[in-house]
Amino acid sequence: MGAGSVKWVLSVALCALFRSAGCNSVEQKIYVDLNNTIPCVRLLNGTHQMGCQSSISGNTGVLHVLETEADLDWVLKSGPHPPYMVLMDASYFNSTVMMQLKNSTRVTGVAVVIPSTGPPQGFSPHNKCPNQHTGVYSDSYGPGLADCNVTVWNPLGNGLSFEDFKFPIFSLKDDNQTEAIRKCISDHNVGNNGSAPAYPLCAMQMFSHMHAVTSTATCMRRNYIQEHYSLNPESVCDPLGDFNVWAPLLPLNVTSKGHKANESVVIAATRLDGRSFFWDVATAAEGTVTGFVTLLAAAHALRSVTEQAPPSRNILFTFFQGETFDYIGSSRMVYDMEKKKFVIDLDNVHSVLEIGQVGLREGTNLWMHTDPVSRTNASVDEQVRNLVANLKDSVTGLGINLAEPTVSQPLPPSSFQRFLRARPFPGVVLADHQSSFVNKYYESIYDNAAYLNVTYPSDLSPEEQLEYITDTAKALAQVATLVARTLYRQADGNKDLVDNITADAKIVTQMLYGFLIRTNNSWFRSMISAEDVGVVGSQTPQYYVGVSVSMTRPSPMTRLVQYLLANLTGTVTALNQTTCQDPSSQRNESKELYSYLWVRGPQSANSTNRDPYCVRSTVRSTLAISPAFELREYESKVYSTWTESRWKSSIKARIFLVASKELEMLTLGVGIAVLLVSLLVTYFISSKAELLFSSTREPSGTTY
Ligand SMILES: *[C@@H]1O[C@H](CO)[C@@H](O)[C@H](O)[C@H]1NC(C)=O
Ligand SMILES: *[C@@H]1O[C@H](CO)[C@@H](O)[C@H](O)[C@H]1NC(C)=O
Ligand SMILES: *[C@@H]1O[C@H](CO)[C@@H](O)[C@H](O)[C@H]1NC(C)=O
Ligand SMILES: *[C@@H]1O[C@H](CO)[C@@H](O)[C@H](O)[C@H]1NC(C)=O
Ligand SMILES: *[C@@H]1O[C@H](CO)[C@@H](O)[C@H](O)[C@H]1NC(C)=O
Ligand SMILES: *[C@@H]1O[C@H](CO)[C@@H](O)[C@H](O)[C@H]1NC(C)=O
Ligand SMILES: *[C@@H]1O[C@H](CO)[C@@H](O)[C@H](O)[C@H]1NC(C)=O
Ligand SMILES: *[C@@H]1O[C@H](CO)[C@@H](O)[C@H](O)[C@H]1NC(C)=O
Ligand SMILES: *[C@@H]1O[C@H](CO)[C@@H](O)[C@H](O)[C@H]1NC(C)=O
Ligand SMILES: *[C@@H]1O[C@H](CO)[C@@H](O)[C@H](O)[C@H]1NC(C)=O
Ligand SMILES: *[C@@H]1O[C@H](CO)[C@@H](O)[C@H](O)[C@H]1NC(C)=O
Ligand SMILES: *[C@@H]1O[C@H](CO)[C@@H](O)[C@H](O)[C@H]1NC(C)=O
Repeated sequence: MGAGSVKWVLSVALCALFRSAGCNSVEQKIYVDLNNTIPCVRLLNGTHQMGCQSSISGNTGVLHVLETEADLDWVLKSGPHPPYMVLMDASYFNSTVMMQLKNSTRVTGVAVVIPSTGPPQGFSPHNKCPNQHTGVYSDSYGPGLADCNVTVWNPLGNGLSFEDFKFPIFSLKDDNQTEAIRKCISDHNVGNNGSAPAYPLCAMQMFSHMHAVTSTATCMRRNYIQEHYSLNPESVCDPLGDFNVWAPLLPLNVTSKGHKANESVVIAATRLDGRSFFWDVATAAEGTVTGFVTLLAAAHALRSVTEQAPPSRNILFTFFQGETFDYIGSSRMVYDMEKKKFVIDLDNVHSVLEIGQVGLREGTNLWMHTDPVSRTNASVDEQVRNLVANLKDSVTGLGINLAEPTVSQPLPPSSFQRFLRARPFPGVVLADHQSSFVNKYYESIYDNAAYLNVTYPSDLSPEEQLEYITDTAKALAQVATLVARTLYRQADGNKDLVDNITADAKIVTQMLYGFLIRTNNSWFRSMISAEDVGVVGSQTPQYYVGVSVSMTRPSPMTRLVQYLLANLTGTVTALNQTTCQDPSSQRNESKELYSYLWVRGPQSANSTNRDPYCVRSTVRSTLAISPAFELREYESKVYSTWTESRWKSSIKARIFLVASKELEMLTLGVGIAVLLVSLLVTYFISSKAELLFSSTREPSGTTY
């Protein structure tokens, strides 16, 4: 043991004892808190727990970098200092390696360094058959098509997101901070010529303790006990969920629920959420953003033609939340329709057009997926053919190749499947893949703007980027035009006006910028209300559904979609702030038919002032919490049962130097010695206090 480590031990010991001012700097040298760390969290479904967590006091281990097979052996078998914290590059973050680490008792945590672009061969921590058990196909509905028997939709899926790890797993950005960790490791944890390194060693500690265990059924039971028998109730877990956003093309009276006479509605659907292995970093660019941006642009494209010549059928634009987790949003809307708690019921639904992943690549087709089982019914089949014909008629003049999958293959994972579970409907799901997803990074952290080629020349300012029309935006605008024209035909609109419907590539590019790069841009800022400025931020936008703790207010991202849909489909009114909030006194205004938003408006050129105004639209949101929680069927096979565990401790990670056991004993010994000495000194001082301090004593009886 060198003089250096003795000095180090002494400083730690003295510091631990006295916590004096000079010690802060010592402590800071010892602990380096890590920024930009993102944990994987504990999620539960009806029967299983998944994800990760730390122990209540954090997990600590000696760091080891995984760079070769030998390193894996060192961590799992030969290394002399277990348990280990494993630092790995993303190339090692696959099921082969992670399952070995999961099996080992010598691993106490994993830190993955995430690069900005994904591995070329692809990566998906999701499963191979997304939402396998909650779609329409089952033993009783197209049994040969169930369980991805015909088509494995996500062949790259390695299922890591569904594994239960005993230790925490954090992601780190590849930056100066990871350099600092690597330096700490190379300075302290590398022995000479492959021998064991000497103490003190560089170690890492991770905190991400979560409360819930076992399953949703268990944690909901605990929640119940807490609520009913505890003076200070604390929930253990919360259902995943948020709000669905929807807007009819022509206003519907929201006060009257259930069946609406003479109302026939074409549903235009897409989903709003995605996920990744790590907690709140689901960028879901191709997986989700392409779909909802296309539908928003299509809704906008229909605005002027609707004013000119409203179609005879209505169109309902719906944005479903929580679809990634066993179709939370769509199953809730169908449930509400069945229970007559929604503005329309299932009898009002004419047909469904859903937009899936549509990150169109050059020279690829746009595929029209249909359900072979419901098409065995002749009348449904005829209506499906009609919808397909409307799509084909609408595509002329657009640079899109439409195609139908040749074999009789099932629908890809889609919200439409939840409608088909209720009864047969004609419907088409549009997607950029024929069978397996072309998205190489499905539900992973790499499905981001760069993967979608949403990139900008480096010399553009943020405001110039907002306006810059990317090729991706042009391609999606074409798809949006196709969708808008098809919907107008499907809703029996005036055929002469169809060709005048065109989606605006500029709007699409602005949305892609806002939803993939930065929500805090001048456009988004102008269309939200003053009290909601918090919904825009500078972080990369992300789409993990999360938990709706209050169940009264949509999450920021959902509200943003609401504002955007209102801007794109609504009209600016002359109402002032008071009458915007309560327009009941105004002629031709009604909160039963419309929703009203008081928004900030654009910033005027030379000042910070804004001109707020009132937007009237048909945009609404309704709760997207799985019916399983209303029915208290926490092990439901029909409805989503996903919950997220609560945590009380903060989430953090830090590195520091640890002493060996002997060194720790020595530290303790020195500490005890110092303590004894100080006790003796104290005793001596207090026993001789009379003598020592007599001259400083105040004379008694002094008056002031
Ligand atoms: C919960 O997830 C596990 C692992 O993915 C799966 O095997 C099980 O069927 C799921 N249970 C329910 C009720 O969805
Ligand atoms: C996982 O990563 C290791 C190291 O990069 C590699 O040797 C192994 O083949 C990978 N396994 C899979 C299934 O990709
Ligand atoms: C994990 O351990 C179990 C039982 O000890 C064994 O059956 C399994 O093959 C191991 N898996 C891996 C990936 O090592
Ligand atoms: C899967 O399909 C094959 C034929 O393609 C069939 O023999 C088998 O029974 C199917 N499996 C299930 C579970 O339906
Ligand atoms: C990272 O290090 C480089 C060079 O050492 C430095 O220029 C840069 O500012 C650092 N970045 C951060 C975020 O600290
Ligand atoms: C974390 O951020 C703080 C403040 O931004 C900074 O002082 C500290 O150096 C950062 N830590 C690392 C390891 O980069
Ligand atoms: C909406 O429906 C309710 C209940 O049926 C009815 O009382 C109300 O007059 C309707 N409002 C409008 C504007 O039609
Ligand atoms: C992005 O650009 C590359 C190279 O030009 C191309 O191969 C790829 O298909 C593009 N991806 C998308 C989603 O357009
Ligand atoms: C189509 O749009 C053009 C330009 O906006 C307009 O001049 C023309 O009258 C429109 N056609 C119809 C049939 O409305
Ligand atoms: C939508 O936002 C733009 C830009 O702020 C604005 O010019 C337009 O009037 C808005 N439209 C509505 C209906 O709010
Ligand atoms: C808003 O408009 C209403 C009716 O047009 C009027 O009575 C009211 O005074 C106005 N309020 C404000 C704050 O201007
Ligand atoms: C903004 O300021 C510039 C120079 O100060 C002036 O030329 C311009 O007219 C102003 N614009 C407005 C809208 O006031």
